[in-house]
Amino acid sequence: MLSQQSHFPAAMSPPSMAAVYYKYGPVDTVIRLTEIPPVEISENDVCVKMLAAPINPADINRIEGVYPNQPPLPAVGGGEGVGEIHSVGSAVKVFSPGDLVIRSPYVPGAWQTYMVEEQSLWHKIDKSTPIEYAATVSVNPVSALRMLNEFVTLKPGDSIVQNGATSIVGQCFIQLARFRGIHSINIIRDSPKSDEVKEKLIKLGADKVFTESELDVKRVKILLGDTPEPILGLNCVGGNAATLLVKFLKQGGTMVTYGGMSRDPVVVSTSNFIFKDITLKGFWLQEWKLSKTKYRDWIDYLLGLARAGKLKYEMELVSFNDFHKALEKAMGKHGSQRKQVLIF
Ligand SMILES: NC(=O)c1ccc[n+]([C@@H]2O[C@H](COP(=O)([O-])OP(=O)(O)OC[C@H]3O[C@@H](n4cnc5c(N)ncnc54)[C@H](OP(=O)(O)O)[C@@H]3O)[C@@H](O)[C@H]2O)c1
Repeated sequence: MLSQQSHFPAAMSPPSMAAVYYKYGPVDTVIRLTEIPPVEISENDVCVKMLAAPINPADINRIEGVYPNQPPLPAVGGGEGVGEIHSVGSAVKVFSPGDLVIRSPYVPGAWQTYMVEEQSLWHKIDKSTPIEYAATVSVNPVSALRMLNEFVTLKPGDSIVQNGATSIVGQCFIQLARFRGIHSINIIRDSPKSDEVKEKLIKLGADKVFTESELDVKRVKILLGDTPEPILGLNCVGGNAATLLVKFLKQGGTMVTYGGMSRDPVVVSTSNFIFKDITLKGFWLQEWKLSKTKYRDWIDYLLGLARAGKLKYEMELVSFNDFHKALEKAMGKHGSQRKQVLIF
């Protein structure tokens, strides 16, 4: 547990090592590790020593300058993350040094060793939570939970279909659907490790897993066997993977696009609109009106599952000193990778 340290002035944070970008552009060229001088801790502020933060696709897109809400420059990279309270302002009563906290709603800037933010932004979580789950819960698992709850009424025995099934969101869809007795049909990229990947997803609770090339057949629905036709499709990838996903959808089904990992547009055949009456929708976590209380309830629920070992996903923990290596992996420069989680 950390306490206020005597060699720092009481109302100032320690200096922070941060991944800072000064302009938008290719992430690995515009961002660098920089020391930020101490900042003042006002009476309602909380100073947090960061412990872990992931590198999410949106963090990369934000630095590339292709994300809608850009922070003013220079800016510290990153979004969600977890930390431990280092010290608090004089008016702060609900937090104490050593508490484990995440920001919710989260705002950009988690890739730094110390953060100072107003107390209402921080949410205290159970100290027994593994830090990698605390660091990664508020974007991808929450998005998965919301998309399963808020577009189509799903009941036990129904099915969903998704692409990008190996993503954290995808792994959460599989498990959260399974808890509710909902079947999942999963589409993955072709790779020499496809069989290994399929096995892992089946172990998580997937009913069916197909590579894109396996779906290059005229009547994909034959491949479903006894699994019911899905009424909800979750599109992480776009391009061909979205076209294939729509082929599985039941008459009147809905596809929700929440990611564009292939960077290709969504292409849906005319006949799917006319003869299948499908609906296409989009999802953006930040744009949805969710009360802070509800958001925090969902975070607590998901972290409860993670602590119980009932919600799992693959991550690689990497020292912040190896930031650039982790960034390259997260950008896909070395092929498919587990989620990179920076440890400070
Ligand atoms: N709209 C929202 O509010 C919202 C919220 C959360 C997440 N998201 C989006 O959800 C997506 C997944 O995020 P995540 O953090 O869960 O992902 P992640 O764990 O970092 O995994 C990346 C996923 O993208 C796939 N992928 C990477 N490059 C690809 C390419 N060129 N073509 C096809 N697939 C590719 C990977 O497949 P392999 O395993 O085959 O490499 C993997 O499934 C991202 O697009 C993210 O921005 C959106």
